[in-house]
Amino acid sequence: MKPEKPGTGSPELDALLGGGLERRVITQIYGEPASGKSTLCLMAAVECLKAGKSVVFIDTEGFSVDRFSQIAGEQAEELAEHLYLFEPVDFEQQGLMIAESEGLLRAGREYPVDLIVMDSATALYRTEFEAGKEAVRKLSHYMVKLLGLAKKYDVPVLITNQIYMDIDRSRVMGLGGTALAHISKAIVRLEKTDSVRRAVLQKHRWRPEGLSFEFVLTEDGIKGV
Ligand SMILES: Nc1ncnc2c1ncn2[C@@H]1O[C@H](COP(=O)(O)OP(=O)(O)O)[C@@H](O)[C@H]1O
Ligand SMILES: [Mg+2]
Repeated sequence: MKPEKPGTGSPELDALLGGGLERRVITQIYGEPASGKSTLCLMAAVECLKAGKSVVFIDTEGFSVDRFSQIAGEQAEELAEHLYLFEPVDFEQQGLMIAESEGLLRAGREYPVDLIVMDSATALYRTEFEAGKEAVRKLSHYMVKLLGLAKKYDVPVLITNQIYMDIDRSRVMGLGGTALAHISKAIVRLEKTDSVRRAVLQKHRWRPEGLSFEFVLTEDGIKGV
């Protein structure tokens, strides 16, 4: 097994997660729109690329080249060469692209893939959400497939998730229900207030839940305050 945990590009988030992104598991970041989920995904990707590795990046929400360039800085063009971007347009394609990405994970590359990002896991699912059980089943299947890749290739998986209002319990929940929560071994919730945002550890295998830090969004990513 590879020893070190890949960093997220944010020292605060690394500390919250106990040293970075754990290999062989799914780490989930969820929160409302504009809370900083995609920024964190790009930061983690850039960190991995800067370490001389490749990244599989599955984007269901519209990848922003401009935001990538801001976060990657001067080396953006060079780093982008090893960013393998998948942009599924529907929920079906999302599953196909997860499967397809395995070709890139296989050994023998000069710049081995050391991170899989899926931002977000549930944007396309959302359109089928109303369809009910079948969509839930499919989403679970995708997650199991991703987890399988994480284990087989000893890499971390970072996914983001959107929220919805659970009317019955009158509170905000992550999409994908308990299945998505269960399969994610680390979960970070992003909260957005007027000026600062807060990242809260909601689930972790060996760190207490409730740990948190405050941050602001800047040109080159998130910054702890
Ligand atoms: N260069 C920047 N400087 C400061 N804030 C920025 C910059 N670029 C984007 N943002 C802020 O980041 C937020 C969007 O963050 P993002 O990571 O895309 O959120 P999410 O993926 O959770 O929807 C917006 O509030 C936007 O104003
Ligand atoms: Mg986003």
